[in-house]
Amino acid sequence: MKQALRRRLRNLILWATAPEPASRDFSRDLSAYPMLNALVEEIGRVYGREQRPYYSWGMAHAAYLAQNLSIPRITAIELGVAGGNGLVAMENAAEYLGRALDVTIDVVGFDSGAGLPQPQDMRDLPNLWSQGDFAMDEVALRARLQRARLILGLVEDTLPQFLASDFAPIGFISFDLDLYSATVAALPLLETAHDRILPRVQCYFDDILGFTFADFNGERLAIHEFNEAHPRRKISPIYGARHYVPARFGNANWTEKLFLAHILDHPRYTDYDGLVRTPQLDIDRQTRR
Ligand SMILES: C[S@@+](CC[C@H](N)C(=O)[O-])C[C@H]1O[C@@H](n2cnc3c(N)ncnc32)[C@H](O)[C@@H]1O
Repeated sequence: MKQALRRRLRNLILWATAPEPASRDFSRDLSAYPMLNALVEEIGRVYGREQRPYYSWGMAHAAYLAQNLSIPRITAIELGVAGGNGLVAMENAAEYLGRALDVTIDVVGFDSGAGLPQPQDMRDLPNLWSQGDFAMDEVALRARLQRARLILGLVEDTLPQFLASDFAPIGFISFDLDLYSATVAALPLLETAHDRILPRVQCYFDDILGFTFADFNGERLAIHEFNEAHPRRKISPIYGARHYVPARFGNANWTEKLFLAHILDHPRYTDYDGLVRTPQLDIDRQTRR
């Protein structure tokens, strides 16, 4: 508790003493990317090295979509918390973006609390993972958390209860459960009702590059099977994402881990989302009036 208060105080001081960002007028940009990327850079500048730009980027896009749809509150989820650095980074991004975009972001973390469960078969990549890997120090982690809700237990057991509860529409999910079987158990998050999910959900899949990850194991297989089973809900890579993040991250491998879940059956899927802008056209329209 004391640790959380100390961190809150530190964040407030960082916030208050951070130099002003280079003043920049975003109103004539043809897309929202420069403005959203500036927010990502700002979050890194305020909270420091530990801050994960891929969480800030996905959460900024989620909050911006919510803002454009006049949805005041959303949920950001981390699946697989372990030591908690990711959940703390999510809390920081939620705090900053909440103020910057005027959208409240609830942060929820799911973890077994005891590290990885036993890999079930070769789809869980037992050549890489073993039972008990990434165990959590729950007391130490709870002392660091300020606003996140930490739900402990196997997602197979805890998710149904969460899904039956009252939560703000899901806007961002980090999938970091490592195992195929656990990822399959978590994907019902993307099956939720329209009032519990944004029409597009920013997703980050941590374990899909290098090592022995492939289309027929781990998170990639879980994505493939989800898409096969859901004609109107699809998880797609954000193609060329590296060109749409702050330039200094253009070669970062996380740009290949950014996905978007398209909720094609969502009644608001076709609503204007603010990403593409036409400032010149707007001005022309005004002068013609
Ligand atoms: C690599 S760690 C997560 C690391 C964390 N996201 C970070 O960035 O620091 C993977 C976590 O997934 C959790 N996990 C794996 N399978 C799970 C399951 N079926 N239910 C709940 N948690 C699970 C493990 O407890 C482990 O802590």
